[in-house]
Amino acid sequence: MKENLSVNLKNTAGFISAEEISSLSSKSAAHLDTLNAGTGQGNDFLGWLTLPDDILPQIDRIEKTAKHLRNVSDTTVVIGIGGSYLGSRAVIESLSHTFAPLLKTKHHDIIFAGQNICEDYLAELLELLDGRNYSVIAISKSGTTTEPAIAFRILKDHLEKKVGKLAAAERIIAVTDASKGALRTMAETNGYETFIIPDNIGGRFSVLTPVGLLPIAVSGIDIRMLIKGAKSMEEITRTNKDAGSNPALLYAAARNLLLQNGKPVEIMVGFTPKLHFFAEWWKQLYGESEGKDGKGIFPASVDLTTDLHSMGQYIQDGQRILFETVISVKSPKGKVTIPLEKDDSDQLNYLAGRRLSDVNHNAEAGTTIAHHDGNVPIITLTIPALDEYYVGQMIYFFEIACAVSGYILEVNPFDQPGVEAYKKNMFALLNKPGFEEAGKKLRERI
Ligand code: PA5
Repeated sequence: MKENLSVNLKNTAGFISAEEISSLSSKSAAHLDTLNAGTGQGNDFLGWLTLPDDILPQIDRIEKTAKHLRNVSDTTVVIGIGGSYLGSRAVIESLSHTFAPLLKTKHHDIIFAGQNICEDYLAELLELLDGRNYSVIAISKSGTTTEPAIAFRILKDHLEKKVGKLAAAERIIAVTDASKGALRTMAETNGYETFIIPDNIGGRFSVLTPVGLLPIAVSGIDIRMLIKGAKSMEEITRTNKDAGSNPALLYAAARNLLLQNGKPVEIMVGFTPKLHFFAEWWKQLYGESEGKDGKGIFPASVDLTTDLHSMGQYIQDGQRILFETVISVKSPKGKVTIPLEKDDSDQLNYLAGRRLSDVNHNAEAGTTIAHHDGNVPIITLTIPALDEYYVGQMIYFFEIACAVSGYILEVNPFDQPGVEAYKKNMFALLNKPGFEEAGKKLRERI
């Protein structure tokens, strides 16, 4: 039988008790009923719960379109922001060769755009794309988000000038709402192939829809295995009310108990740079789902051991408001052994013959004990390997735990009213029609 993702709360000892964890996780099991019955807050955004099955009929078309983009181009620019960006980037960076774009072997590059409005970023991207044979996937549920809309306008213009309007239409794919929004209208006018983002799935829960799966498939990753992993985690968590065997209940309960015990900041820790963007995805998932009504755990992240040489001091010794969630990966894909050196001039011969993963695991164990000794409680999440199956497990695990955790906090985990505030100000300052009065008032404050 395949091993599964597991949660270990041993290093929360001394901060929260086994009885407290057992009591809150058992109580939280009721939230699974609420989710499955669709009777809780935000119940019109629960489509992600059944995605591992519901997405299957679309897999053939997603793979076919991915193959088409790989055939007609050597690079795909994925345009999107927030939930229309972070999921695919998290999976692609977790599972791809770290130096993929620099490898000599034939490779399809994925580049992201529309996740910022930096002029230099776009100028340099256009400079690169001048020499590339590229396609575009434009992703926006609303179809009107400013950052990706601007990037799409610029890249559409660039691509049409480069290959002509008709050929451009063959290599632009739109992932958007079934009927609303400017992107839908443009897709219909120009004849782009489209994929639909269902109404009942919010951006940050959409990685297992075409929003995430299409770019992931174009990058060459096995999306069927990703979904298989997610499905297995659905089976472990969705209706399992036994807190002892449901890791999502344990995680949701432990982090809320830590919050209640004076730890409002959760740091996601990975010991591989491949998990950097997975932590970015996780930050959005939890930050947007829980940070509201004056409540919520602040999600942060570090890459270790890299950041032990920058943030390590604070984690060990700064304000005691932190807890960590470590993603521990048992086995690496590659194999590198430390060589023996005759004169041992760097005094590393005590490590000769040992694998780098052995050193990394000892760094992880040593750091965990040091941080725990420094009053930082630690939740450890272990996966056997960083592959499609376990990344799929992690996606479903964090999504369902997030929903339960939001319900424990008594917030609506599926809305994001706070995201609108900056948009209104930006539109007003840019003189968007309808925002002129607000613009005048804001300019007085600058
Ligand atoms: O999770 C969310 O809802 C947001 O982060 C959105 O994904 C983000 O604002 C982009 O929205 P859209 O897909 O409508 O362009």
